[in-house]
Amino acid sequence: METTTSLLDAAAVGDLVLLDPLTEESLLQTLQERFHRGDIYTYIGNVVISVNPYRPLPIYTPEKVQEYHNCNFFAVKPHIYAIADDAYRSLCDRDRDQCILITGESGAGKTEASKLVMSYVAAVSSRGEEVDKVKEQLLQSNPVLEAFGNAKTIRNDNSSRFGKYMDVEFDFKGEPLGGVISNYLLEKSRIVRHVKGERNFHIFYQLLAGGSAQLLQQLKLRQDCRHYGYLNHESSALPGVDDAANFHAMQDAMRVIGFSPAEVTALLEVTAVVLKLGNVQLSSTFQASGMEACSIAEPRELQEICELIGLDPGVLERALCSRTVKVRDETVLTALSVPQGYYGRDALAKNIYSRLFDWLVNRINTSIQVKPGEQRKVMGVLDIYGFEIFQDNSFEQFIINYCNEKLQQIFILLTLKEEQEEYVREGIQWTPVEFFDNSIICNLIENGTGGILAMLDEECLRPGVVNEDTFLAKLNQLFATHKHYESKETQSARHIMDASLPPRCFRIHHYAGKVTYNVTGFIEKNNDLLFRDLSQAMWAARQELLRSLFPEGDPQKVSLKLPPTAGCQFKASVATLMKNLYSKNPNYIRCIKPNETKAAMLFTPELVLAQVQYLGLMENVRVRRAGYAFRQLYGPFLNRYKMLSAQTWPRWAGSDRDGAELVLAELPIPAEELAFGHTKIFIRSPRTLFDLERRRQERVAQLATLIQKMFRGWRCRTQYQLMRKSQILISAWFRGHQQKNKYKQMKRSALLIQAYARGWKVRRAYRRYFRSGASARLANFIYRRLVQKFLVGLGRNLPPLAVLDRNWPPAPYKFLANANQELRSIFYRWKCKKYREQLPPQRRALLQAKLCASELFKDKKSLYPKSLPQPFQGEYLGLTQNPKYQKLNAVAKDKLVMADTVQKVNRANGKTVPRLLLLTKEHLVLADPKAAQPKTVLSLGDIRSVTVTRFSDGFLALHLKETSTGGAKGDFLLVSSHLIELVTLLHQTLMDTRAQALPLNITDQFSTRFQKGDVAVTVVESPKASSDGPVCKKRGSHKMEVLVH
Ligand SMILES: Nc1ncnc2c1ncn2[C@@H]1O[C@H](COP(=O)(O)OP(=O)(O)OP(=O)(O)O)[C@@H](O)[C@H]1O
Ligand SMILES: [Mg+2]
Repeated sequence: METTTSLLDAAAVGDLVLLDPLTEESLLQTLQERFHRGDIYTYIGNVVISVNPYRPLPIYTPEKVQEYHNCNFFAVKPHIYAIADDAYRSLCDRDRDQCILITGESGAGKTEASKLVMSYVAAVSSRGEEVDKVKEQLLQSNPVLEAFGNAKTIRNDNSSRFGKYMDVEFDFKGEPLGGVISNYLLEKSRIVRHVKGERNFHIFYQLLAGGSAQLLQQLKLRQDCRHYGYLNHESSALPGVDDAANFHAMQDAMRVIGFSPAEVTALLEVTAVVLKLGNVQLSSTFQASGMEACSIAEPRELQEICELIGLDPGVLERALCSRTVKVRDETVLTALSVPQGYYGRDALAKNIYSRLFDWLVNRINTSIQVKPGEQRKVMGVLDIYGFEIFQDNSFEQFIINYCNEKLQQIFILLTLKEEQEEYVREGIQWTPVEFFDNSIICNLIENGTGGILAMLDEECLRPGVVNEDTFLAKLNQLFATHKHYESKETQSARHIMDASLPPRCFRIHHYAGKVTYNVTGFIEKNNDLLFRDLSQAMWAARQELLRSLFPEGDPQKVSLKLPPTAGCQFKASVATLMKNLYSKNPNYIRCIKPNETKAAMLFTPELVLAQVQYLGLMENVRVRRAGYAFRQLYGPFLNRYKMLSAQTWPRWAGSDRDGAELVLAELPIPAEELAFGHTKIFIRSPRTLFDLERRRQERVAQLATLIQKMFRGWRCRTQYQLMRKSQILISAWFRGHQQKNKYKQMKRSALLIQAYARGWKVRRAYRRYFRSGASARLANFIYRRLVQKFLVGLGRNLPPLAVLDRNWPPAPYKFLANANQELRSIFYRWKCKKYREQLPPQRRALLQAKLCASELFKDKKSLYPKSLPQPFQGEYLGLTQNPKYQKLNAVAKDKLVMADTVQKVNRANGKTVPRLLLLTKEHLVLADPKAAQPKTVLSLGDIRSVTVTRFSDGFLALHLKETSTGGAKGDFLLVSSHLIELVTLLHQTLMDTRAQALPLNITDQFSTRFQKGDVAVTVVESPKASSDGPVCKKRGSHKMEVLVH
């Protein structure tokens, strides 16, 4: 709503067609009011007027892009995005190639507008890796071309010094595929000269400010701009412009476009050569003939240039200072004067640079070009230099203004003239609107036989002395009475005195104002000649890029034909451009410059008024108001809108016109909004058209919904039917399967029942033939028979009676295994009993003693296994036989248990002495062997315990009770060679006589009590112990060590 009111806002209407009253003042006021509100865009129908705000505005955000994407042109605030969207949609939906013509003075905002259009189209077209790459390449061509083709001028800090037309190509889906860039007439004179307050092309400053030290060294450049003749006229830095950053942005852009590092280096090398050429100084010399000649004043710069491009300095020097002239089949080398030399040098610099720029555009085109064969739609964006009126206007301004004149012609033709002519042709009632038709000016300039350009060419080609004066005289003669041509001569012929028109000048009344051109330099610039020696020198360079820029320098291809003049070339390229533009649907953006000082928010009404006048905006509004915004042939119109009427949808059998009338008659459109021509329908206001479009879109949406509905219904129905069929099939199979299983089970059960029944019947029939219990009896009988056979067989084959024989036959049947095992153990016990019963008493006693020894020592003392084979003899001394032992025999009487020789350990020093030991049923006697007299008699009751070691020695400690009488000196330490026997017999004797066991310790550490106190005994296994027995060592008074082995 807000936007519609903005269009209709009486103080500042968004569309000037709605302006009331329509006067120049009201139009200007509206533009001014809108400008101050920050609304820089205003419509005249679908033409956008853009007033340069000279300040960043927040109206180019991604949100804005979304707002204008697929918008209704007249339902949103005027914006450049709206026209871009309209053109893009028209391209996609109506399949019409589009061109966007951006016109206006220098600094009016054309280049910015073209970038906004491009970025909008890039933002709304579809995405994808490949598409994004193409878009990025298209957008990145701008920084590169601006670096090489833009410069600061008095009017614009970033003025395009070349014309640019870019065709962006799309596929049928509206995805960008690539593009082609055409460039027009680079202002190359800027290379060698520019007016005060301006700069040379940006690239030179960018290169010097942004190039790394290494790069500058490689290019043999110095960072200081003032060092370079072509740059040092003005201060180089621009406020608010970062040349270094722009240089890096440009390098990045080249990388994105696809320039190889080698190409970038070559490009910069050639750029450096141009810069350095400006520093080549010439000095005047005289030849021997007295003729003036020139020579290189300081060879260093020349040498560096030659090193950069790989050329012999002599060749370049010769080409700069002399010239080859052909005189009657003879070639003569003539020396050049200093001014001629400088002319040649500058011509070379200009030529190199402009050719390099062409190469650059071609190189970008190679990257962005679309593969042939693909069907495409095209959107052209034209950003060409604006109309220029300077203090001193030369050939360049003439050419530029000619181009603008042609563009204005397109505008007039398409929007004013052709439109009115069409109304008449179609038989629509029409009151003609007056407007200025500039074809007369175009004709004045470009007429093939008598136009200014043709005259200039003629003058250039004319043999003999040519100069601008003869050219001017010719013009004066030809156009003496032309309304749009003036010069001093024609004025004086008409008796007009005009001091503003100096001599050697002519003036043209352009559509945008009167411009006075100074003819000086016209011929030279039109000829654009470069001495052949210079182009040949360039071709001789080894640097590939430079060489390729001068193909005519190839001596093999010397042609005497003069190249086409600059004017002629430009005319041809403008003609091609015009043809191209005519084939497309035009969209206009008319840029207006609000002030001369590039100031934000400053609106100079006089300046804007002049532009409004020469742009023909008033006429534009008038035609627009009186005319119809939209026209279309009946056929395509009906095709597009036939869905709006039930009678024409889906097919209409009558004529297209009838159909169209029918469709429109059904809609609530006022009659004055429509006009029916002979072949076309005309719709007056865009609003009606948009209403029509809206209805169409709604209807299309309805139809799409209908189609979707029918399709969805059909799809669901078919799917349902398929599911139903499948369900029936599945349940049929399932039921069948279930019944089959049931039947199988019933059959199995029936067979089982049958089998039982038959068995039962047969058993009942045969039962009388069998006695009951016969089988059990039989089994019992067989069992008993088997047991009997086993027992009898065992009885007959008993194993031997030897105690140690453990053989026993295995059980013949498994059921006899337990019985067999039992029998085996019974037999074994019985065999042992038998063996024991037949033993004599001594043998039995001996075995008992051995058994006792085993209980006491087995696995406890390592001596035990050695004692096993030795029978216990008890009496080792032969007491009864030897009369020497009579006394001892008497002591023992008949109670002797054991008599043996032992070693007694001396308690004081650990040395041993032999003693006789007698063990009787009551005493233990120790006797001296020589005297055979008892020395010590101990009652067995005095023995507290016995300690032996773990090892295979015969050491024993006899611990006595403290109350004992015999042990006054303390415990006895003895060594016996029959230790096992001695301890066993002592134990047995104690058991027999006192029914008490002998406390036996088997240990390595124990304490023994001597008369002088307790002694700690430690048993140590040591090789020092002799094989005869252990060695006792007293360590201090309370320690003793027993070394055993
Ligand atoms: N829409 C805009 N918003 C903000 N600033 C703008 C806009 N359009 C133009 N400008 C400012 O105006 C300056 C000049 O604009 P631009 O370079 O587009 O002019 P031009 O018409 O291309 O001039 P020339 O014919 O000299 O190339 C820009 O550098 C920018 O500062
Ligand atoms: Mg520009």
